[in-house]
Amino acid sequence: MQTINRLADLRKAVAGLKNGGKTLALVPTMGALHEGHLTLVREAKARADAVAASIFVNPRQFGPNEDLDAYPRQLAADAALLEAEGCDLLWAPTVEAMYPEGYATSISVSGVSEGACGGSRPGHFDGVATVVCKLFHQVLPDVALFGEKDWQQLAVIRRMARDLDLTRPSADDIIGVPTVREADGLALSSRNRYLSEADRARAAALPKAMKAAIAAIEGGAEVAPTLHALEGALIDAGFSSVDYADLRDAETLAELFVLGERPARLLVAARIGGTRLIDNMGVGRPWRFAI
Ligand code: PAF
Repeated sequence: MQTINRLADLRKAVAGLKNGGKTLALVPTMGALHEGHLTLVREAKARADAVAASIFVNPRQFGPNEDLDAYPRQLAADAALLEAEGCDLLWAPTVEAMYPEGYATSISVSGVSEGACGGSRPGHFDGVATVVCKLFHQVLPDVALFGEKDWQQLAVIRRMARDLDLTRPSADDIIGVPTVREADGLALSSRNRYLSEADRARAAALPKAMKAAIAAIEGGAEVAPTLHALEGALIDAGFSSVDYADLRDAETLAELFVLGERPARLLVAARIGGTRLIDNMGVGRPWRFAI
């Protein structure tokens, strides 16, 4: 695996792969890799001849009081994990390479980026859309893979690709990969390592409470009181606050107050011991979608 941190070298490496007739998949990450990221790499290998991963802790997607400085950085260990998975190329630019002196452009995707994480992390999705658009233009992948754990992020990136008529990759070649979970249901996240042992045990209440809420809504319970009960269950389990617990259209991310015909998604962000955890799960009445 080649590790590259200068754009000129990246362009040469990408041209080499493409001139050799290879298709290329991109797995964008911020590092601190876990099994969820490695699952993306495996899926990428199944979809293209060569795989590039990027590691870049993107300052533009962190708010002023967020964990940019504390965010785990372990490039050598991550590179070893990627190499063991058979990744071909690691793009690890510096902040100066990504945003050189005088950098002034930002991409803002309205609609899907509003509410949920867009509401509790102002500017976050502008930072995500901007860096992902740059990564796409730098690596020119045929396909790009993202974890469904960041469901709203995936919707924002797809919307951006459609709206800007991107071709490398096209919106249809942006692939969401299902969330990888621990045995107790907690979604894997680089931020789980911030949790104390006690909070880690308590955190399993999040997927459990979400499943209970989904079963209730799918069974016909009213949405608002069910989400209210979900928030209460999290506080009772030891979470300090709930940023949001929303039922949203799975594609447009419009907030839903009743479960309709279209697939929906329950999205939750909650804080435990100073760590903000997010999760999402599908909601729908499967028999309604059956032919
Ligand atoms: O999901 C992430 O790790 C980041 O938001 C991404 C997509 C790599 C952009 O910085």
